[in-house]
Amino acid sequence: MANNSEFSSKLGIIAATVGSAVGLGNIWRFPAETQANGGAAFLLIYVVCVLFFGIPVMLGEFVIGRAGRSDAINSYKKLSPDKPWWVAGLFGVVCSYLILTFYMVVSGWTMEYLYQSITGELFRPLEGVEEGSNVQFLQRMDEYVSGVWPPMIWTWINIAVCGLILSMGVQKGIEKASNIMMPMLFVILIVLCISAMTLPKASEGLAYFFNPDFSKITPKVWISALGQAFFSLSLGMGTMITYASYFKKDTNLMQTAVTVSGIGIFVAILVGMIIFPGVMSFGLEGESFKGSTLVFVTFPEIFNRMWCPQLWSILFFTLLAVAAITSSISISEVSIAYFCDHYGMKRKMATVIVMLPLMVLGALSSLSNGVLSDMTLFGFTIFSGCDALTADVIMPLGALIMSVFLGWFAPKNLIREQLTNGGKLKGYFVAPVIFLLKWVTPIVIVIILVTSLFT
Ligand code: PFF
Repeated sequence: MANNSEFSSKLGIIAATVGSAVGLGNIWRFPAETQANGGAAFLLIYVVCVLFFGIPVMLGEFVIGRAGRSDAINSYKKLSPDKPWWVAGLFGVVCSYLILTFYMVVSGWTMEYLYQSITGELFRPLEGVEEGSNVQFLQRMDEYVSGVWPPMIWTWINIAVCGLILSMGVQKGIEKASNIMMPMLFVILIVLCISAMTLPKASEGLAYFFNPDFSKITPKVWISALGQAFFSLSLGMGTMITYASYFKKDTNLMQTAVTVSGIGIFVAILVGMIIFPGVMSFGLEGESFKGSTLVFVTFPEIFNRMWCPQLWSILFFTLLAVAAITSSISISEVSIAYFCDHYGMKRKMATVIVMLPLMVLGALSSLSNGVLSDMTLFGFTIFSGCDALTADVIMPLGALIMSVFLGWFAPKNLIREQLTNGGKLKGYFVAPVIFLLKWVTPIVIVIILVTSLFT
């Protein structure tokens, strides 16, 4: 509990936790994964993964954070002083920091695109490049991302904005920012969703998104859905442990986990309801519908064919920037809380210590998409390597150790005590949660780790 902080209200707790969960993962990663893995079938499996793996692991992190009342590492140390379970927390701190190195860069892109939407630059045709197709936006993105100064400066601006919010503290910084930004995000999402429903082939898009093709379900689809569920619920890297250390004693952990996961699923569905009608209506379901090109190429292309492109793109990139900032602050808070709790540092000092090196690492990560793209290790650049290492290795490992700790080794009554608030709440779901943490989550994570490492 960095500097003895606590969120001030139930709404603040939900806003901050949802702020962490709803991020680039929902808007950027989810639709691309859905399209690559069979549309509605992926959505269905994603929901199953959230219910049976996401919620138990989130509850596990909540239990550790609120019982330990400290950062990710020290919470473990408090609950099990003479065993090395704190290593899971250490994985969390390292993993979250590595994630920041590329997350801040992509968040920076969203800010630049917001800026270009406001000035109208985004829709000014590039000279010498064919018009009326994805080519324009593809070229624009390639040039921008591989450039030196603009993406680096936006990365720094983004780090500075997050640092400023974080330096203001848990209530006045994180909670206040989330309370303002989250409602904004939902209003924008709903406006965009309504406007997507008016597109010419909206119903075809929705049909693709909602009619499952079960023949597309393979083990790979399960693995992708589980990875997506973990990333999008901010699990396996100490974020939820850290935020839970700011929860109140009477916060209902089960209700919070279900609400946050439910909202996460709802946002993913809304995003699908925006993108698929757009893609179908303008015949864009080809090559470009992958990873970052979806957000920075396909979306602008869709807006360009709608009435008043600037309006939609300002709304959309505001949505993305807001989603990215509230997630970035939660990822940064893992390290800041560690410095505050472990070394008794003042929050402002801890923020500087965490954010300054990030400026250098973020810059290197940004440059690895351009001038430093030849600097590779096992075929990965700094940017793609940090992404793969965290999502495929460190994150699942952290979640695995946590489940084994809670399921098998933690003090007997810890989970029940925390989930029922010392017996004040009904505990009929405690046994299933313990069962899942003990047997199901560890086995499934091991299968995923092995498969993703060796295939
Ligand atoms: N959940 C965020 C997203 O979907 O973009 C990303 C994230 C935040 C991952 C916090 C991990 C984390 F600890």
